[in-house]
Amino acid sequence: MSATPSIATAPSVNYNDKVVRQFAVMAVVWGVVGMLVGVWIAAQLTWPELNFGIPWLSYGRLRPLHTNAVIFAFGGCALFATSYYVVQRTCQVGLISDKLAAFTFWGWQAVIVAAAVSLPLGYTSGKEYAELEWPIDILIALVWVAYAIVFFGTVGIRKVRHIYVANWFYGGFILAVALLHIVNSAAMPVGFMKSYSAYAGVQDAMVQWWYGHNAVGFFLTAGFLGMMYYFIPKQAERPVYSYRLSIVHFWALIFTYMWAGPHHLHYTALPDWAQSIGMLFSLILLAPSWGGMINGIMTLSGAWYKLREDPILKFLIVSLSFYGMSTFEGPMMSIKTVNALSHYTDWTIGHVHSGALGWVGLISMGSLYYLIPRLFGQKKMYSVRAIELHFWVATIGIVLYIAAMWIAGVMQGLMWRSINADGTLTYSFVESVKATYPFYMIRLAGGLLYLGGMCIMAWNTVMTALAGRSAAGQVPAVPARA
Ligand code: HEM
Ligand code: HEM
Repeated sequence: MSATPSIATAPSVNYNDKVVRQFAVMAVVWGVVGMLVGVWIAAQLTWPELNFGIPWLSYGRLRPLHTNAVIFAFGGCALFATSYYVVQRTCQVGLISDKLAAFTFWGWQAVIVAAAVSLPLGYTSGKEYAELEWPIDILIALVWVAYAIVFFGTVGIRKVRHIYVANWFYGGFILAVALLHIVNSAAMPVGFMKSYSAYAGVQDAMVQWWYGHNAVGFFLTAGFLGMMYYFIPKQAERPVYSYRLSIVHFWALIFTYMWAGPHHLHYTALPDWAQSIGMLFSLILLAPSWGGMINGIMTLSGAWYKLREDPILKFLIVSLSFYGMSTFEGPMMSIKTVNALSHYTDWTIGHVHSGALGWVGLISMGSLYYLIPRLFGQKKMYSVRAIELHFWVATIGIVLYIAAMWIAGVMQGLMWRSINADGTLTYSFVESVKATYPFYMIRLAGGLLYLGGMCIMAWNTVMTALAGRSAAGQVPAVPARA
């Protein structure tokens, strides 16, 4: 059985593309901002004096600003934009509530601005990827519930019987993130912008990394797989390779991810059996991850030649290669003996960015390049050559970044565990830092290239929007159907 996301038979439907356009544009804006902060902290690791002695600009405050900006602002806006677009097209109906959808847009931007102010000021719960303090957490919960109502409400009033698989992935992502956020953020406020976690000791760590790993599994993976299942078939003009595999992929992935969190807590006070369960489920996770990747790539069967000519397809398909790479590497790093070497080193940072830049970044950019012209009533982006340039600049940037971090990481791990015949350490810590220096320079160069690509995209988006305006006299309320 095979299926392609179809819109062919819909009579004219009043789609709400305003909110899609708003989120798509903000994804580009936050992408530039988040990556700029990434480049800045990469430069700080090379030249620490770049904090200029100002606490607000210190590494410890800018780092969570970077992670929040790229994951929740850039990634989040891309997910909102694409999910609202896809759910309307595949259900052949407009959003159930335009007002609530507008609330999710403005509410989410308010969360991002609150994060951008509070993190440099030093307000943090201390939980990675959940640093924001309780008043902002409450706003996130409200926005997310509104998002769930808009998304599932729209699925509920659909005009077609079948719920296309991309919606399953988006739906799984929305439900899981609500659960993760509410459970992990449970805290006792002791003042405005100060709270203590509801959990203590190793339970706190366990809940945090159940959250942390599923933030990867659902925020950084499931939602983006929703993009994959819609935009690859659309751009390739081919049905999904195996629709049956996509359903198996969905259930296997969401079931398995939930158990893998303890691989972040190897060799800690967490009971050994729990660590082993984390490792086991991480190894199993390779199968659904690769099943999904193969399903995405094979969708191009019979249309491989398009890859040569179409830069948007290049983004979408190469993102899957990085997805395959990071989901092979992750299970390997979850093996306790491997983790004994990789943990605390830049290997983890290399793994993170092969997933983040390669998978999350490229699939978002490819999907946005598909969307943006349509949202501004244009047939294609202002400059297709600029898309091609962006692709190559970004890909070279990723390779420089991750190769540098892998080499640095393995080197650090080996230096730290190396001992002399008399049992003393062969290297002091600072020697390993010194040896890492050239790799930090290479990473910075890779980051600059990746950011450069994002700036090209921002320019192309502005020019496309301007072309749309001058063609129509104004931004069309209901742009041409995709
Ligand atoms: C121009 C592009 C980027 C550059 C230069 C960059 C740079 C950095 C740097 C220097 C760190 C800190 C590493 C450390 O503490 O040793 C970091 C951490 C991180 N970045 Fe990026 N980044 C970029 C893009 C992204 C994107 C697009 C994402 C996600 C979609 C992302 C996700 C993360 C995450 C999750 C961490 C924390 C990793 C951990 O704690 O293990 N980055 N980044
Ligand atoms: C089969 C899939 C995957 C598995 C089993 C896996 C496994 C792992 C392991 C074992 C670590 C190191 C934990 C540690 O030593 O503390 C890790 C770190 C990380 N991975 Fe993955 N990974 C997978 C896929 C991905 C993907 C696709 C992404 C990004 C899109 C990603 C993002 C991260 C992040 C952000 C961290 C750093 C967390 C932190 O310490 O702050 N992973 N992963």
